[in-house]
Amino acid sequence: MRLAPKAICFDAYGTLFDVYSVGQLAESYFSERGGALARMWRDKQIEYTRLRSMSGQYKPFWDITRDALKYSGVALGLDLSAAQSEALMGQYARLSAFPENLQALQRLRASGLPLAILTNGNPDMIGQAVESAGMSKMFSAVLSADQVRRYKVDASVYQLATDYFGCAASELLFVSSNGWDVCGATWYGFKTFWVNRSKAPAEVLDVSPTVVGYCLTEVADLVCGESAPRV
Ligand code: LAC
Repeated sequence: MRLAPKAICFDAYGTLFDVYSVGQLAESYFSERGGALARMWRDKQIEYTRLRSMSGQYKPFWDITRDALKYSGVALGLDLSAAQSEALMGQYARLSAFPENLQALQRLRASGLPLAILTNGNPDMIGQAVESAGMSKMFSAVLSADQVRRYKVDASVYQLATDYFGCAASELLFVSSNGWDVCGATWYGFKTFWVNRSKAPAEVLDVSPTVVGYCLTEVADLVCGESAPRV
């Protein structure tokens, strides 16, 4: 299979940046419960985006992230001090990038395709993450849900990309590690690549991504035509 998109849009958290890397710091505070904190923190963060989006109660992603951490600490019975919360939030601001990403993005960029980020992250937050990962020169645009004050999978967020590139949804390739995000993007009409890093089961939502792979290198292989990933 060969895709020839006009541009590629990437989800940020979980796709470019490893949201579970905060688990290491959390584990240094709470030993083996750090991983559980990182997982609940992420799940609650996404749940809050949906609740706020559905109810028209927008709050920036950074603030939602803080709220989700607060909830998760209480829910898990962890005595999270103010200093520990600040340190975990600080870590979230400088998440590790997945190791293959920079090289894969460089290959895609060298092919002449415009690359963009399409994220729930608010501009300050995503700007800091991109810079600390050394990805500042990779993207023509960083499109944020903050512009429409709603969150994925609301179609108005995906529409930021079609508006920006001035093309049909089917002419864009959207890349995400989040199964739910890939479903929303496919519903919107994008071609989609699910980078299923955690080998999660497919969402049962009567929709399938265009392509499934396991790391960003496979996106570069597919678009630059070097090998044939699983479809
Ligand atoms: C994002 C989150 C949802 O970057 O991963 O949009």
